[in-house]
Amino acid sequence: MDRQVPLVQLRGVGKRFDAGPWVLQGLALEVAAGEFVSLIGPSGCGKSTLLRLVAALSRPTEGEILIEGKAPRLGERGTVFLFQEPTLLPWLTVRRNIEIPLRIRGVGRRQRQALVEAMLGTVRLKEAAGKYPRQLSGGMKMRASVARALAQAPRLLLMDEPFGALDEMTRHHLNEELLEMRERAGWTAFFVTHSVAEAVFLSSRILVMAANPGRIHADLRVDLPYPRTADTRETDAYLRQVAEVTHVLRSVEAGGEGGVR
Ligand SMILES: Nc1ncnc2c1ncn2[C@@H]1O[C@H](COP(=O)(O)OP(=O)(O)OP(=O)(O)O)[C@@H](O)[C@H]1O
Ligand SMILES: [Mg+2]
Repeated sequence: MDRQVPLVQLRGVGKRFDAGPWVLQGLALEVAAGEFVSLIGPSGCGKSTLLRLVAALSRPTEGEILIEGKAPRLGERGTVFLFQEPTLLPWLTVRRNIEIPLRIRGVGRRQRQALVEAMLGTVRLKEAAGKYPRQLSGGMKMRASVARALAQAPRLLLMDEPFGALDEMTRHHLNEELLEMRERAGWTAFFVTHSVAEAVFLSSRILVMAANPGRIHADLRVDLPYPRTADTRETDAYLRQVAEVTHVLRSVEAGGEGGVR
């Protein structure tokens, strides 16, 4: 791979649905391999739409999106989407649900089993591995979806508010696990959240978006060293960054003009 080519590039990207208003307009962005980018902004500013464009689930109305310098194709190996709602297959157990993308990719049985067992441990679902989705709580379903996504060893992981429905303890735990797995696996992430604290904890970079039309209002670096752990949340540097991003987000929500940095 050419190291000079950014993993993801957006050039003048705009999106509208039929004759409707521009949902996204004038998006320009370069994301290097290894970055953890969070998207935060008011409801309806186009965060999910942007993720769907990057995943090639939908096409831009104008401009172009490039992954490693090429137009993305739907279902491209290496890009994994983790949706807002868990999308487990109801007729399969948790274990089978995590396993199925690996089967489709032709991963051998032994390796599949090893991967699935490791992921079950990571998301703390070993006890529930034989259960069906209807027997799980909302949080357990989401954890199973996380396990399924990460077992696929993504290069680019697109996450749309994956932990929004979880209680704070579970969310914190999964945030820490997510970073730990990233240290090991090295994927690049786009992460949509409504939580500033979560965005700062996870990200190397935060894009604050504004609405009508959806656009990037501020592109902020998070200056906290990795690895980050539960203790990071108690540091002054972390709390300062949370306050800073909150301030920028407030100005967007109040209809403030002008980007930052
Ligand atoms: N398939 C579609 N057809 C028409 N309009 C759409 C479609 N998908 C999204 N929109 C519109 O695009 C805008 C942005 O939607 P999007 O779901 O991307 O916002 P969001 O930032 O993810 O919001 P939230 O924080 O509530 O999840 C909204 O006005 C929405 O109604
Ligand atoms: Mg959304």
